[in-house]
Amino acid sequence: MAGVSEQLDEAFVQGFMLPGNVPALQSALHQTAQLLSDYFDKTNHSYSGLAADQLDHAIGGMLAETEEPHAVSEVLGEVRTHIMSHSLNVNHPHTAAHLQCPPLIPSVCADTIASALNQSLDSWDQSPAATVVEQHMTEWLCRLFQFPESAGGTFTTGGTQSNYMGLLLARDHYCLHVLGRDVKKYGFPPKASRFKILCSEEAHFTVKKSAAQLGLGEEAVILIPADNRKKMDARLLEETIHRIKAGGDIPMAVVGTAGTTDFGSIDPLEEIGTIAAAEKIWLHVDAAYAGALALSSQYACKLRGITQADSISVDFHKLFYQPVSCGAFLVKKQSFFQHVAHPTDYLNPDEDKEDGIVNLVDHSIQTTKRFDALKVLVTLKTIGTRQWGQLIDQSISNAAMLAEKIEADPSLRLVMRPEMNAVVFRYRSQNEEENGLHRRIQQHLYHSGEAAIAKTKVNGVPHLKCTLLHPCTTEERLEQLVQAVVNTGRKLEKRKKEETV
Ligand SMILES: Cc1ncc(COP(=O)(O)O)c(C=O)c1O
Repeated sequence: MAGVSEQLDEAFVQGFMLPGNVPALQSALHQTAQLLSDYFDKTNHSYSGLAADQLDHAIGGMLAETEEPHAVSEVLGEVRTHIMSHSLNVNHPHTAAHLQCPPLIPSVCADTIASALNQSLDSWDQSPAATVVEQHMTEWLCRLFQFPESAGGTFTTGGTQSNYMGLLLARDHYCLHVLGRDVKKYGFPPKASRFKILCSEEAHFTVKKSAAQLGLGEEAVILIPADNRKKMDARLLEETIHRIKAGGDIPMAVVGTAGTTDFGSIDPLEEIGTIAAAEKIWLHVDAAYAGALALSSQYACKLRGITQADSISVDFHKLFYQPVSCGAFLVKKQSFFQHVAHPTDYLNPDEDKEDGIVNLVDHSIQTTKRFDALKVLVTLKTIGTRQWGQLIDQSISNAAMLAEKIEADPSLRLVMRPEMNAVVFRYRSQNEEENGLHRRIQQHLYHSGEAAIAKTKVNGVPHLKCTLLHPCTTEERLEQLVQAVVNTGRKLEKRKKEETV
C-alpha cells in the first residue's frame, strides 16, 4: 500500500501552500483584486435580479466536478460569474435595507491580512501580536465610552453574541453575588424561575433569543412600552420594576437600547441608568447600532448615560463601516469575565495566568476566534477618528434629507423624523387595506435591481424602511430612490386593478 507521501503530489500541493509559493499567493491576490475592480466598475445595480432557483442551479453547477483540481483563475472566474455578479451590492447608493455597511477600503485590506495570517485569539501562543492588538483595541473602545480603568472587552461576532454575553454575565453575577450560587459549577438556583429581564418593546429580538438560550425562557423578558419617539418610557420601567418585585419576581437585568433596529431610537440612558443603579440591577446597553456615535463630535451627546452600563454591545460591522463580522462586548469590570472563563491544560492553564500570560479565551464564549481587531486598528490609523466620525454624521444628514423628501411626497407617509439613519415610511395606497402591497413594492425594487430597501411592521401594519449607510450618496440619488418607490407602488396598484377587472 502506498504511503501518504507517495500519494501526495508534493509539487502540486506546494502550488497552494506557503511559504514555498509566494508567487502563487501574489498571482491569486492579483487576480482577486482584478475581479473585485471589475465587479465594482461594472456593477451599477443593487442586485442582478436573478431568482433563487436560478442561483441555486448556477452555484450547484460549480460543485459538479470537484474530484480533480481546477486552476485558481478558472475557479475565480466562476466565482465572478456565479457568485459576485449575484451578490447584494452593498456599495450601491440605493442599497439601503439593513444595517449592512459598505466596508472601508483599509478594513478590507486588513481583513485579507487577518485571513492570511490566520491567528486564533483563544490563546496567546496562537496569536501573540494579535492578542495585544485586541487588548489595545478593546482598551481604546473602553476609553471611547468613558468606562473606568477596571473595564475590559472582547471582540465578538456581533450584537447577537454581545447581547447574549451581557445577559449571561448579568444572570451569573446576580446568582453569585446575591444568591451565593456559582451557576457555572452548579447550574440554576430554584429562584431562577422568577428572573426577569426588562427592555423596551422596540429592543432587538436577540434579548428574547438570549433569554431562551440562557434557560430563562422568552417569557422572562418584560417589554416596557416605548414613547412616540420609540424610546423606552423610563417611568414605566421604574413602575414595572416595583410591581414585579412586589409580586415576588426578580428583575435581574435591564437592557437599554442605543439605536433600535427600525428607528435608530436611543433610550433615555441616563434615566434608565439611575433606575438600574438605585434598584441594583445589571444594566446592559445594546449599542450595536448607535455605539458608533461615540466617534461623532455632533452626536456623541446622544449616548449620555451609557457609562452607567455594566456591559455594552458595540458593532463595528454596522456604522463603523467594517466588514462582517466584527463586534465588541465591553464590561465595566474585567473581573465579570470570570463567568465565562474555563481553564484547560492545553490552552489556558492557571499557570499561564500566574506568569502573566493573557489567553483571550478567558474573556469569550468562543474558542477559536478571528483576528477582527486588526481591521479596526488599520481603519483607526488610516482614517483617524475625526473623519470616521464625519462619515457617520454624513449618513445621518443623508437620512434627514431622505425623510424630508418622503414627507414632501403626497404618495408617501413618514412615520417620524429619523434619530439616526433609518427612515420608516408607508406608501399611501388607494386601498389602504391592501397590506401585501408594501411587500410587493420591496420585492419588485429588489428584483429589478433598482433598490434594496427593507420591509417592517409598525404596530402590526406593514411599512417600508431605508437604512442609509453609504455616506457618499447624493441628493439626486435620494430623489431617485423616492421616485422609484412611488412609481413602483403606482405600477403595482395599476396592475392589481387591471387583474381584478
Ligand atoms: C440593535 C441591534 N442589536 C443587535 C443586533 C444583532 O447584531 P448582529 O447582527 O451583529 O448579531 C442588531 C442587528 O441589526 C441590532 O440592530
